[in-house]
Amino acid sequence: MSDLRELNWYPLVNSSDLPYRHPYRSKLLGHELVIWRADDGFVNVWLDRCLHRGMRLSRGLINGNEIKCQYHGWHYSNRSGGCTYIPAHPIDSPAQTLSCETFKSIEKYGLVWSGISPRGLVPDLSIESGESIVNLRSMFMRAPASDTTSALMEYEFSPKLKFFVQPLDELTSIVHGLVDNSQNSGDVEDILHYHNDQLVKIRTKVEFSALARPVRVNGLANTKTSDPTTKPASPQFSQSSRLKVKVSRKWITATDIVGVELSPIDFESLPTFLPGAHIDLVLPNGLARQYSLTNGPGELGTYRIGIKREPQSSGGSLFIHDVLDEGDVVEISMPRNNFPLRQDSSRTILIAGGIGVTPLLAMSQVLAKQNLHYELHYFAQSHEHLAFGEITATLENNFISHLGLSPMETMQTIRSVLGAHNTSENVYICGPKPMLDGARDIAQSLEWPDNSVHFEYFKNSNVIHSDSSFIVDLARSALSLTVESGQTILQTLRNNGVAVPSSCEQGACGTCLVRVLEGTPDHQDVYLNESERQRGDQILTCVSRALSEKLTLDI
Ligand code: FES
Repeated sequence: MSDLRELNWYPLVNSSDLPYRHPYRSKLLGHELVIWRADDGFVNVWLDRCLHRGMRLSRGLINGNEIKCQYHGWHYSNRSGGCTYIPAHPIDSPAQTLSCETFKSIEKYGLVWSGISPRGLVPDLSIESGESIVNLRSMFMRAPASDTTSALMEYEFSPKLKFFVQPLDELTSIVHGLVDNSQNSGDVEDILHYHNDQLVKIRTKVEFSALARPVRVNGLANTKTSDPTTKPASPQFSQSSRLKVKVSRKWITATDIVGVELSPIDFESLPTFLPGAHIDLVLPNGLARQYSLTNGPGELGTYRIGIKREPQSSGGSLFIHDVLDEGDVVEISMPRNNFPLRQDSSRTILIAGGIGVTPLLAMSQVLAKQNLHYELHYFAQSHEHLAFGEITATLENNFISHLGLSPMETMQTIRSVLGAHNTSENVYICGPKPMLDGARDIAQSLEWPDNSVHFEYFKNSNVIHSDSSFIVDLARSALSLTVESGQTILQTLRNNGVAVPSSCEQGACGTCLVRVLEGTPDHQDVYLNESERQRGDQILTCVSRALSEKLTLDI
């Protein structure tokens, strides 16, 4: 039997007691835990509390690779525990800091092992994990782990029998046991019955003595202690952090499109993200390029992106196609989401042109997992130009390809796709500018509400006018700056020590957006929609300017 005082890893449940998509509730050293297996097989051991109102996640629903709190529907991702969706804020990305407390987990000898701060390895039992192990029925004891451990000492042991005690709290414990039956020394049913009877006897005895003793509760640790020698499950880093990842796979997914899988180096999993999110991939020359993540919900073992060969590009796509190789290490940013998906639509229409399919693949997988009504229309030159066939194949009848259409046929098809609609539907469009502009015009002519039409441009191909000069007053910084002709607002702010995040710096991604309190913006981006432009209360500082002499910004 293992020495409880030295055992940092504790068995919490028999692997076979974790039913498909069913959360399991347990406790360890006073910590309430939820244990659940995701569809990729990973067993999550988390504090059993929703971050919103503290409800038990063990009462929640598992929809594959996420668990959803039953109370207000917050979603949390497999592995990282990161919050991925808040129904009350359907278009906002939950903060990266919203993450459930997670504990390490390992499956071995037919048991799920975890610990509050486990060090080293799960005990080596010198037996093979496998079918020859008979896992005994775990037995709850209304007695402290120390009493249970002492009582088990009286058990008649054979080298093939192993017991472990899980301290639930100061007053209760659970005995887990297993028998190595590799020699087929007994019938499995007989083994289970025999040890169950023995454990029941021990339970009666140990519970009786525990009852006879005065109760003294010292209170077990209620907070997780950190062990600097252990590797965190997933990175905790700020929005501006960069993360080194390895190219674990690179393959041709369609004509002129490569798929790239990026794996964590120093962590077990990558940061949580929401469908529609992108990362910056930093090129050797220091420039960053944005690529949308195609992963489905809870897929945090690798990030998967698609890159089209652009002969006219400034080097990003050519570098990735021709130079980047499997095994190379690159830097990426935290995922950012300027193209968030509402998950409360009665129907979601996704329209992709070419490589614009990538964010829509992530969205499709989330909608599919939740059995929501959606359709993905993918416009491409030919079958060979359809990327990520392994994902689209899983979308079944919700995936519709439109191949080899002329520009006019494309617009006619989009018109028919957008034709009949109601106000609770949303459409997401991503693709080349002519297609996006055309689809937005069609949506407007069919009276789709502006805020139901969402789009993501690859880049801003508008001609940017930068010859005006104007004043920006920074309301919260008590600064008044002059934006000179030829300079952007963003550059002026940075030159004066005011930090504003940015990514594309061409008015396409929305990262540099700030609120306008007074003045009239001269919008030159492709990020804001028409009603947002007309409201005039926000501006993309990397390209847009002022029509008035002065703009007052909320920074
Ligand atoms: Fe992308 Fe300004 S940095 S819109």
